Amino acid sequence: MRDTAQPIYLDYNATTPIHAEVREAMLPWLGERWGNPSSGHAFGRAAAEAVAAARAEIAALIGASPEEIIFTGGGTEADNLALLGSFTEPGRLLISAVEHPAISAPAAVLRGRGWIVDVLAVAADGRVSLPEIEARLGQIAQVDLVSVITAQNETGAIQPVAELAANVRRRFPAARIHSDAAQAVGKIPVDVDALGVDLLTVVSHKLYGPAGIGALYCRGGGPLHPRLFGGGQERGLRPGTEPVALIVGFGAAAALARRTLRVEGKRQAALRELLWRRLAAAIPGIYRTIAAAHALPNTLHVCVPGVRGAEVLARAPTVAASVGSACHSDQPQAIGALGAMGVPPEIAAGALRLSLGRGTEEADVIAASDALISGWRALSTLN
Ligand SMILES: Cc1ncc(COP(=O)(O)O)c(C=O)c1O
Repeated sequence: MRDTAQPIYLDYNATTPIHAEVREAMLPWLGERWGNPSSGHAFGRAAAEAVAAARAEIAALIGASPEEIIFTGGGTEADNLALLGSFTEPGRLLISAVEHPAISAPAAVLRGRGWIVDVLAVAADGRVSLPEIEARLGQIAQVDLVSVITAQNETGAIQPVAELAANVRRRFPAARIHSDAAQAVGKIPVDVDALGVDLLTVVSHKLYGPAGIGALYCRGGGPLHPRLFGGGQERGLRPGTEPVALIVGFGAAAALARRTLRVEGKRQAALRELLWRRLAAAIPGIYRTIAAAHALPNTLHVCVPGVRGAEVLARAPTVAASVGSACHSDQPQAIGALGAMGVPPEIAAGALRLSLGRGTEEADVIAASDALISGWRALSTLN
């Protein structure tokens, strides 16, 4: 049962609460169990076994082998390792126009180091366009590294990563392909072979695990060049004593996702459609940014005409949602994914990102849509 003193949480793309099963798995490692996995004694061996079990769970969730999983301090660090750790010499990098700053910022660093960085536009449907990519690839003599997000954090648009990877490989067999799957893993089935990627970012706190832990999948285990130097943990690629409790929680979250992802995805997609129907019936001209067929099952991104999304939310305090990505909510919206899609700033100003999760029930959707509609009505009578 939801605590009715709390707002209705519709911001699961920002972060997710730690699931009870995850907490249960972590608790011993915050109390009676401890040890440094590098220690040779019984405490160390037990910690090392717990880390190995979690690694296997995360690998299983994405169709990888445990040796291909490198634990990092989260998604940002995994993305940085993928981009900055793949090559030692400058080359040519391809990214999409709707990457998270954890990709676009290290891409800018690479540009400063002499890399050529090409940015693939997205179409009005929020996805990179395969014909445009095909044409672009035909004009380029070399591609060394590609990074295209699996599902966009702001809009929830699922990108055609498998098709894109196949296109790149046909022309540039040696290119390395990364995808930031922070928002996708745990919400939709993600398999590294089906996607055809060499590197993939996974984030614990987006799938009901703790924050501060993530992983980079690396096909065949390497080669990869470390960005941090110290002890030899994570095969020297991410030195530092492993946070066993966080890793165990991440493993439990991966196990939960593997067991329940398809059923939860269907359930949340049905609730998301209910939310959309209720909003669309009450708010004339409301516009759904991403078609259901290409959106994460939990995400409804809309633009409400004539008002600012932030003002609607301010008048609906019983709903905890966002107008864009939590990571850049202090920046004007139109420069984010919507700007890249060509949505005019006056339409983008009315954006709302409503992301559902395991805790969302039908009553929440009804109450949240009522609150958002009242907030919108209060504003439209003012205007
Ligand atoms: C697509 C995407 N990539 C990377 C990150 C960064 O992950 P973290 O906050 O764990 O560093 C996020 C988090 O919002 C994200 O949505």
